[in-house]
Amino acid sequence: ATTTAYQAENATITNGAVESNHAGYTGTGFVNYDNATGSSVQWSVTAAATGSATLSIKFANGAVTNRPMDIAVNGTTVASGVAFNGTGAWTTWQETSLTATLNAGANTVRATATTAGGGPNVDKLTVVEGGTTGPSMA
Ligand code: GCU
Repeated sequence: ATTTAYQAENATITNGAVESNHAGYTGTGFVNYDNATGSSVQWSVTAAATGSATLSIKFANGAVTNRPMDIAVNGTTVASGVAFNGTGAWTTWQETSLTATLNAGANTVRATATTAGGGPNVDKLTVVEGGTTGPSMA
């Protein structure tokens, strides 16, 4: 399997800001979603082949309440209201994962806030192509 990380600060941000005031992020920062429904981050993802991939979003949520988001691949929602629950602190980062089908070549992956609280802070999207890794049987 091939693993590629795509930083949120390099993605297309709609109603959010790149910030770096909470430690634990990778790259040069993270995206602070505006506290509004519809704020989003869209990544451009390149896949080697058509097939299943694991999409993991690294986030922090220092608020007590969930900051759910819809996840869309190539414009189609593949997971609605994915929970991004409180992580205890804005410096405490976790990952949530889902499986989706990517096309060979260019794809978009968008995470859109569905409540007035907006999204959590998002560090990156990690894509693992080719399904789960494991020992090969020779
Ligand atoms: C705080 C925090 C931000 C966060 C925001 C929020 O202001 O410092 O990083 O994005 O809360 O509630 O969304």
